[in-house]
Amino acid sequence: MMMKKLTAAAAAGLSSALALVLAASPGMGQSAQAKPTTMQASAASLEDWWKNAVIYEVYPRSFQDSNGDGIGDLNGITQRLDYLEKLGVDAIWITPCYPSPQADFGYDIADYVAIDAQYGTMADFDRLVAEASKHHIRIVMDMVMNHSSDEHKWFKASRSSKTNPYRDWYVWKDGKGETATDKGAPPNNWLSVFGHSAWEWDETTRQYYYHKFYVKQPDFNWNNPKVQKAFDDIVKFWTKKGVAGFRFDAITTLFEDPSFSDETVVKDKAGNPVISELGDVVTDGKLTDNLPGVDVEMAHMRTVFDAVPANKFPGRRVMIGETYVPSIADLARLYGTKDKPEFELPMDMQLGITNKMDAVAIRAKLTDVETKIGSNLPLLVFENHDNPRIDARYGDGVHNADITRVLSTVLLASHGASMFYYGSELGMATTPPERKEDVKDPVGLLGWPKYKGRDGERTPMQWDETANAGFSTETAKPWLPVPANKATVNVKAEEADPNSLLNWYKALISLKKTHPALAGGEMVMLDVSNTKTLSWLRSSVDGKQKVVVVTNFTADPQTVNLASEVTGSGLKTLLKSPSAKDATSLGAIEVPGFGVFVGEVR
Ligand code: NOJ
Repeated sequence: MMMKKLTAAAAAGLSSALALVLAASPGMGQSAQAKPTTMQASAASLEDWWKNAVIYEVYPRSFQDSNGDGIGDLNGITQRLDYLEKLGVDAIWITPCYPSPQADFGYDIADYVAIDAQYGTMADFDRLVAEASKHHIRIVMDMVMNHSSDEHKWFKASRSSKTNPYRDWYVWKDGKGETATDKGAPPNNWLSVFGHSAWEWDETTRQYYYHKFYVKQPDFNWNNPKVQKAFDDIVKFWTKKGVAGFRFDAITTLFEDPSFSDETVVKDKAGNPVISELGDVVTDGKLTDNLPGVDVEMAHMRTVFDAVPANKFPGRRVMIGETYVPSIADLARLYGTKDKPEFELPMDMQLGITNKMDAVAIRAKLTDVETKIGSNLPLLVFENHDNPRIDARYGDGVHNADITRVLSTVLLASHGASMFYYGSELGMATTPPERKEDVKDPVGLLGWPKYKGRDGERTPMQWDETANAGFSTETAKPWLPVPANKATVNVKAEEADPNSLLNWYKALISLKKTHPALAGGEMVMLDVSNTKTLSWLRSSVDGKQKVVVVTNFTADPQTVNLASEVTGSGLKTLLKSPSAKDATSLGAIEVPGFGVFVGEVR
């Protein structure tokens, strides 16, 4: 389930190869050849690097362990920069690696301007930035401003007394019906994303504090200008160090409605309250999510961020948002205005929560971002560390690799920037814990067995077939078990197989970077009444070059006729899935079950 559904455990219930046509790509290392353009281009295109970027999410705990302690680390990422460069990515987003008690695996930060010893040192971080720049890869950090760890010195001070200068840095309230001897009930019915009340009683000062996420993640009070100032300084600190952007975590939940009244309970068709998988009465989340203060704050952050002088990474630094918003209008709002810009790339989570192979639903989402966000560009995404991987949400158990080819084509051949999660390019499968006692993510303990938490999508990266898949030494005990399919689903095996998913991703990324029609121009949906296939046209900015993309969302072969919509005398194959045929005529493009055809219009 996508994180929104998770958020909505609260809000909505926790329910939630190829004959690589090497005409376009002369060999397996082809995608790396496209890379230098990104860093070495003209000033204008440097400024725009992010618009057609491929951003790769690294969950540092699970990517590469360099010291055999079973936990991935920064030096591990540095070791794998060659791989990432060959894959063709422009930037890596590293989920939090700051000092943390790891109650939420880094999203509970105890010091915003240091590196957790588990992941290395500040010197390791600096080396990673320097090496990444040599590999033409930008570093994007995670910035968690909604909450800190309860072990952060600010919260420790805040909870120590009602008169402490840090008291007002967090959200404190009296209980309902509280007396000198009775804590009363929580101030209102607001829910934590991770289950049950969002309010935690604190005996020392006899008040409740608000936590949208785990109890150990108290929310900041963003109405306090000192909080804003503290984060301005934190963002400046990392930007000066060479960070090329931030992914702002849980950003839509920064503010709470000042009324602190109860949220509306969500009812089912029969009028009964909806109960989440975590056993809570579901509320609509309208007083705790997507409030207007977020726009004001992010417009401010944009001015701070932009004011830091250029660092190792030339070109624009970007603000990416974790933006699970209810509608395309809300997403459009988060780009800000010309005078008050906010995010460059608020993530389009709407696409990734379609959750089934439905050409019509995905067409609607792509049309939305092509037509309803002005001249802005989307950041498309299907997978991340909070949600089961593609196999568990879109797969049918038989054609998972081909289904991933279809979705990766949607991701990488559409207009805009694309983000994917480590291991997507291999077809890594969701592998949830088998026993409750093995669960690491606390919400999985609460939700067991209906909801097993997020461990399943966080298993170690599969580099090779050895005992720990090359993630760690063979004798180490990785923090999560290595899935058994490492025998075949791994970088080493897939690099050697021209029909592998990994080589499909490389070819797609290479096309995105090098073909003028895929690199920048517009996108028009074709054959829009077809419920089985999804086809679109990409054109270069000057309109001279055109590419058609045809994807089959069913297990049966389909033939698509685009002759009445696209002018041209024929097609040249750029990329097709392993069992697909070359198509020469726009009038009859045949695609096998869950097949893909990408062709240049002649
Ligand atoms: C979203 C992050 O992606 C997730 O992993 C985390 O638990 C919450 N925000 C809270 O920080």
